[in-house]
Amino acid sequence: MALKTLISEERIQTRIAEIGAQIDIDYPDGTLYLICILKGACFFLSDLARAVKRDAFIEFMGISSYGKGKTSSGEVKITKDLDISLEGAHVLIVEDIIDSGVTLSYLTALLKTRRPKSVRIATLLDKPERRIRQVDVAYVGFRIPDEFVVGYGLDFAEKYRNLRDVCVLEQ
Ligand code: IMP
Ligand code: MG
Repeated sequence: MALKTLISEERIQTRIAEIGAQIDIDYPDGTLYLICILKGACFFLSDLARAVKRDAFIEFMGISSYGKGKTSSGEVKITKDLDISLEGAHVLIVEDIIDSGVTLSYLTALLKTRRPKSVRIATLLDKPERRIRQVDVAYVGFRIPDEFVVGYGLDFAEKYRNLRDVCVLEQ
């Protein structure tokens, strides 16, 4: 399998700085939780959290909807839940990529039941062509074509997460 750079480290960092500045503008006072969806969003969360200048708390959640292959199992499972209350807080879900939308439509609905003040989504990557569930996304790093990508947190069977660029994985 061959790797081809799709989005360079430099472009990723420039875009994250813009999104961080936008978050500072958009959010009123009040508690803001950045919820990192493990494991894919780990680098996006760590860079985005530092691009935000207002107070923000970071929390982690584990969700799996994919097996070991490239296609969704369609099944969403919480593998690690939050251990804090979201009541009255602003919640920003930080995700690596939105593909079918199944994971995030499920997660958004779940977190809304916990009585936060707001729930929004920030995703590094978006593949809009693949959507089967509608999701409102407040912050998108890059819209990409329907190709399987790895790197900067994204994996194929747990491999390639530590690449600095987002790359297309070609057979
Ligand atoms: P969705 O529920 O189909 O939107 O799937 C979202 C999840 O699928 C993401 O959090 C990723 O873990 C995984 N995923 C979707 N597309 C890709 C890809 O191109 N590369 C790596 N993981 C992907
Ligand atoms: Mg993921």
